Amino acid sequence: MSTVMNRVTPEIAETLSRICGAAHVLAGRETLEAYGHDETEDLVFLPDVVVRPADSREIAEVLRLASARAVAVTPRAGGTGLSGGALPVFGGIVLSLERLNRILEIDTADLQAVAEAGVITQVFQEAVEEKGLYYPPDPASRGSCTLGGNLAECAGGPRAVKYGVTKDYVLGIEAVLPTGAIINTGGRVLKNVSGYNLTQLIIGSEGTLAVITKIIFRLIPLPSHRRVILVPFSSLEAAAESVSGIFQAGITPSALEFMERAAVRAAEERQGKKFPGGEAEAQLLVEVDGNSEDALDADIEAIAGVVAKHGAGDALLADDSQKVADVWALRRGIGEAVKSISAYREEDTVVPRSRLPLLVKGVKEICSRYGILSICYGHAGDGNVHVNLLKGKLADAKWDAGIEPAVEEIFRLTVSLEGTISGEHGIGYTQRGYLPIALSETEIGLMKAVKQAFDPTGILNPGKVFL
Ligand code: LAC
Ligand code: ZN
Repeated sequence: MSTVMNRVTPEIAETLSRICGAAHVLAGRETLEAYGHDETEDLVFLPDVVVRPADSREIAEVLRLASARAVAVTPRAGGTGLSGGALPVFGGIVLSLERLNRILEIDTADLQAVAEAGVITQVFQEAVEEKGLYYPPDPASRGSCTLGGNLAECAGGPRAVKYGVTKDYVLGIEAVLPTGAIINTGGRVLKNVSGYNLTQLIIGSEGTLAVITKIIFRLIPLPSHRRVILVPFSSLEAAAESVSGIFQAGITPSALEFMERAAVRAAEERQGKKFPGGEAEAQLLVEVDGNSEDALDADIEAIAGVVAKHGAGDALLADDSQKVADVWALRRGIGEAVKSISAYREEDTVVPRSRLPLLVKGVKEICSRYGILSICYGHAGDGNVHVNLLKGKLADAKWDAGIEPAVEEIFRLTVSLEGTISGEHGIGYTQRGYLPIALSETEIGLMKAVKQAFDPTGILNPGKVFL
């Protein structure tokens, strides 16, 4: 696969203007900077040009041109990624999906919806909820990320613990291949074994195989009630240990999040609000949902019983919708708050749920050995821990020398616990070097062969997933 990419010449820019309209081919310095980063650390790579096509036909023409001229194309959705998937590391063209922002259909007969890739996830969720339907995947960035980006990364979020992740709601995709061909995978059926499952191959491929333009979603009925409790613990390990017990008691929460104190404090400071119970060393945020209030009350009681056995303090019930919204706003704000503290690295470890206490304990041990501050929070019910490594006051030399080996040790620990190195943020640009910790040479080779089949000239999102 070629990694020598050509620049966008004035003549190529001219052709792009003819395809997308001059108003949608941008090359001003501020625009290039705005599209040159996502939410990954402070990484910035300037593209030569940003294009904003109107539809899949224009996208096909852009890709055909880029393939013919060996110019890198980096697809960009909401730009909220955390592994650098949208960074144009080879310059070239950033292809923004922002104009593909229509919800085309909400089908209440078959509980399906069809939407373009650039629709903001929360906008889509609210639209289907108005019809009594539910699209559960809820990455923390749902107010600004988009459906296409969620597919590209196979985004998760708190509700995954009960409802699954993005891939579990996708029935079909319209996508444009790097060669310019438009394909339709899957369809409006709940069962489909006609050939290989290209839909699921494209989901999670981080914009390296095809540009997703339109999506057919499966929806479910919207549960009518929810309850949220916050449970304080005197240690992170005690919080982690009680997680499996909740499931063993026969309950599947609709969210089971954990946050250590430093994470809570960061969100409180940034948002100028207080978490109830914010002084505890760690908290679990447990949500249950369903259609019977009595059943939910019984679930909450059972959960309270489990956590009490693990030494929890008094659980706090968020008993009205405002309190529930406040608690979730703080939780969703943690990522942004933590990374504003200092130079940082975010890792997205995931292990089988029962190994969570071992993971958390190991992460703390590794980080303290390197003198690196770690702040852990995340989707405890999924065994998915966001480990934030912060430079804080550590001397530059110590941070520079310690960060890579510390991350590697954390990933080796994760894999030794039968986990993997990313649960929902992707490999993208920043985690490529670590992929061999999780996958064998044969497995990586097979993936590269798939990439080659989709993108023979290697122009689509080069420099991602593999070194
Ligand atoms: C979260 C993002 C960082 O869970 O995945 O807040
Ligand atoms: Zn997360």
